[in-house]
Amino acid sequence: MKVPNMLDAKKRHQNKINYTNYDNNNYKFGENKKFFVRTYGCQMNEHDSEKIRGMLTNAGFINSDDINGADIIILNTCAIRENAHDKVFGFLGVLKHMKKTNKNLIVGITGCMSQEEVVVKEILNKYKQVDFVIGTHNIDRLLPVLKEKIDTNKRQIEVLSYEGDVVENIPVNRDSKYSAWVDIIYGCDKFCTYCIVPYTRGTQRSRHHEDIVNEVKELVKNGYKEVTLLGQNVNAYGKDLNNNYNMANLLEDVAKTGIPRVRFMTSHPWDFTDDMIDVIKKYDNIMPSIHLPVQSGSNKVLKLMGRKYTKEEYIDLFDKLKTIPNVTISTDIIVGFPSETEEDFEETLKLCEYCKFDNAYTFIFSPREGTAALKLKDETTLEEKEQRLYKLNELVNKYFLESNQKMIGKVVDVLVDSKSEKEGMLCGYTDTNKLINFYGKESSIGEIVKVEVLDAKTWSIDGKQKWNN
Ligand code: 5AD
Ligand code: SF4
Repeated sequence: MKVPNMLDAKKRHQNKINYTNYDNNNYKFGENKKFFVRTYGCQMNEHDSEKIRGMLTNAGFINSDDINGADIIILNTCAIRENAHDKVFGFLGVLKHMKKTNKNLIVGITGCMSQEEVVVKEILNKYKQVDFVIGTHNIDRLLPVLKEKIDTNKRQIEVLSYEGDVVENIPVNRDSKYSAWVDIIYGCDKFCTYCIVPYTRGTQRSRHHEDIVNEVKELVKNGYKEVTLLGQNVNAYGKDLNNNYNMANLLEDVAKTGIPRVRFMTSHPWDFTDDMIDVIKKYDNIMPSIHLPVQSGSNKVLKLMGRKYTKEEYIDLFDKLKTIPNVTISTDIIVGFPSETEEDFEETLKLCEYCKFDNAYTFIFSPREGTAALKLKDETTLEEKEQRLYKLNELVNKYFLESNQKMIGKVVDVLVDSKSEKEGMLCGYTDTNKLINFYGKESSIGEIVKVEVLDAKTWSIDGKQKWNN
């Protein structure tokens, strides 16, 4: 049994990282048993779930979208805020009942929560229904751990608290045939004081650029239209490799593969270089849509958060990014950080009035075990924080609508994703990453087509496909 340790997770030993290949051992013990994966959290987790599905199907297991009747249920978890935790523990209650009627059911936990010491302790003490736990660093060990569980019927806990290897060629069952996630850097060394990710995902480890570019070339060959380069902080790409090859170089090489659309997320303002901006401007297939979390508009709060930039520096970068033609900028904001006063919050509102973000994800601060912000004094009541969130949402929503309204009458490029939930319509995303529902040809699914924008809502736009393309 290998259990997590948050103090070890904080240590950084850059020199120990190994680059290895996935060892598939030719496991074939699936025997057509069905598995079900539920994913919580961010895009990195979505992509990890695609790897989980890939490994299991390679061993003969069958993916099921229906939890009932599954022989193996895996919860790929998120640790970022308390409510993500609560959802998982709540669901474990449901699974306890399912195990009563299906004694052979196997339940596994993967993802960020499995890296948390408190979570694994709680699982060991109270959640007997969990059969195995694997951490984020060694997800490639899924098959041997599962096999051991099946062969011995003993609970398996395998979580590493030091940076894992960078493992290439893990099989992946992609959710989409047109748009693919591609990991470029794992982990994070920023240690923002509120954030648990540097503990759950470990130190910054970049993949070799040849491996990334080859993966994209393969996707192009297979007809993919879009890649999103993923990392907790993609702009730090390459810093750990010391080979004079950075995010701007990678963006350029990925753009040169000819894939029609390149996206990347998430960017930390600190590492966004002018070279990156130049490359984005140079290549039409790098989408003009940037996610740039600001977190707060108060310099006092930014300092306490350990963000290492001021409001003024953020705005300077924002203004530079706005010189990219047609660009949309989205952000993340936390309200109610310990010691945030009404005046600090007003500063955040002012910053939003200036930036008029095209989209924003807003959160109430959630104290996380092991992080530095947990120790800060927090006198603001939850009610006050909720009021701040409400006020902030009202303001940012107004700008989303304005940003969408500006699109009316324009003809935009849309990568058609699927049938829309709206009767008779299709849906997809514009180059600027806006969700669009539109009347069009079903045969266009998976293609990039021209759509005329007819109407705008806060969260999406509506349109009609131009037929002559
Ligand atoms: N509480 C609230 N929000 C958080 N985020 C990260 N950690 C916390 C936390 N402890 C938010 C940040 C980040 C986004 C992914 O989640 O805004 O950018
Ligand atoms: Fe959740 Fe963050 Fe981990 Fe993603 S990286 S799964 S958002 S805690």
